Amino acid sequence: MSGLHSGGVDRHGAGEPANSGLSDFGRTTHLESLRDMNSYRDPTGVAPRGYGSVAVAFHWLPAVLVLAAFVVGPGGSEQRVYSAAKDFDRQIHEVLGLTVFSLTLLRLVSRAFAPAPQSPSAPRWIKRISKVMRGLLYTLLVATPVTAIAGAWLEGHPLTLGILGEVQPMIPEAHAAGQALAQIHTILGDAVVWLAGFHAAAALFHHFVLRDEVLLSMLPARWRRRRLS
Ligand code: HEM
Repeated sequence: MSGLHSGGVDRHGAGEPANSGLSDFGRTTHLESLRDMNSYRDPTGVAPRGYGSVAVAFHWLPAVLVLAAFVVGPGGSEQRVYSAAKDFDRQIHEVLGLTVFSLTLLRLVSRAFAPAPQSPSAPRWIKRISKVMRGLLYTLLVATPVTAIAGAWLEGHPLTLGILGEVQPMIPEAHAAGQALAQIHTILGDAVVWLAGFHAAAALFHHFVLRDEVLLSMLPARWRRRRLS
């Protein structure tokens, strides 16, 4: 499945279930509490295993923001993008894009400390595609804003962030390179949305065709329980 799971690796040690976080006599270590942020253990044992509230928020919030950034994307020539008429759209787009970028970096840090919950068993080829898609999504979620920021600065434009003010270029102007990067940014921006669409279709395939818990695992724990009651 595209990007929802890490391929079911049990990183807790041989034979130990991925969600068993308690150490001796209920004391939790620092790493275990970080793991708990990313994977949810249903105390009643009723709901399917899944991601914790932080990981769920890191998934759905950027998804909504990427869509919004795509919708208000300031397309066209450089003159048009930086015209007074496009100023508002561009500023909204830049704030949304930078928020997605910050959330992606935080999410990568959180994943490094808090591995994903164990995925349901699935054919190896599905797990492989899932891993590749996840890698691609993260790469695009970093490369898309980075090319936009570098492109704008190389063109000599500050980042314009509405009431937050402006961030002046931190690199020397190289206009042709900036324009090329801005062009690459629009291609990557489109690619993010196409890939996210494929990712969503794969989640629905898991849910309705394979009938496994992959989609449920990324829903808030409360919804997971409700689906079973
Ligand atoms: C993941 C986040 C982002 C996504 C999905 C995204 C998506 C897009 C898309 C699809 C376009 C083309 C719009 C069209 O052709 O109508 C675009 C253009 C643009 N984006 Fe983003 N963007 C993101 C982040 C950013 C950030 C952080 C900035 C801040 C500098 C930014 C600045 C721009 C600018 C200036 C353009 C116009 C490019 C040009 O000069 O032609 N974007 N973006």
